[in-house]
Amino acid sequence: MSSARVFSVANQKGGVGKTSSVIQLASGLARRGETVLMIDGDPQGNLSLFFGASTPKDFSQLLPALARGEAVQLKEYIHRRVRRNLDILPVNNKNLKNEIPDTIIHEAGKIFVTFINSMKEKYQWIIMDSSPSNSPLERILVQSSDAVIIPLEFQLFSVSGLESILEEVNMCSTRTGRDIQVHSLIFTKAENRLNRVKTYRDVFSSFKIPVYEICKSEYIARSLEKSRTIWECGPASYAARDYQRILDKGFPVPV
Ligand SMILES: Nc1ncnc2c1ncn2[C@@H]1O[C@H](COP(=O)(O)OP(=O)(O)OP(=O)(O)O)[C@@H](O)[C@H]1O
Ligand SMILES: [Mg+2]
Repeated sequence: MSSARVFSVANQKGGVGKTSSVIQLASGLARRGETVLMIDGDPQGNLSLFFGASTPKDFSQLLPALARGEAVQLKEYIHRRVRRNLDILPVNNKNLKNEIPDTIIHEAGKIFVTFINSMKEKYQWIIMDSSPSNSPLERILVQSSDAVIIPLEFQLFSVSGLESILEEVNMCSTRTGRDIQVHSLIFTKAENRLNRVKTYRDVFSSFKIPVYEICKSEYIARSLEKSRTIWECGPASYAARDYQRILDKGFPVPV
């Protein structure tokens, strides 16, 4: 099996569609027949909640275990088959940051990269959700990724937000000596009827990063409420069409 490509989905701004994008992209890849591991790196635990995932040990315990140099028993941490081909390493408690001091996160950073590398042999895709902040925790997720997906909303404030994320990704690349790419910008909740959207499209296309749009859709809101993916609750919806386009163009079937 080929080695997994690893993505973190990041934006320090809240509510921009990080978790929804992880859900729809990861489940879309799994539905295509490829093996996918999701990692819930957000202490809010929304991704884990969506999939009803629970494990004896969770992501908040993984980092200290790695920092202590302990051997990690994967079956304690990974909830298998939340859907066909789709596994998750969940977070079960809501106090991840309170419980893990930054020093441990720093110590675990390098080892986390090794951990992720070891997982690459087991899956074709690894996709990590992250929290709406810019702390050492989000940094170690970016540092262990091959590429970063940035969900955004069409807003003027998103430009400065994007610039700081790009700076952060560059810093992580330099620090690790790895070429961490920016995979794409995903504009969630896109509304074509708004005149300013055209202006924003022009502004964001100047960043020379692939740009995708997901239309604003009741199906996405419903999907989250009902814990059903867009493929399960609205496969013929415009939102599903938009996510499918990202899968087709941005996630080529591994050879
Ligand atoms: N395409 C869409 N159409 C309509 N609503 C959407 C769309 N995408 C996301 N949303 C809504 O936006 C809200 C925030 O989405 P989501 O939880 O995925 O964002 P997030 O970036 O993960 O938030 P946080 O920063 O708190 O983790 C949700 O209520 C979701 O239903
Ligand atoms: Mg989220």
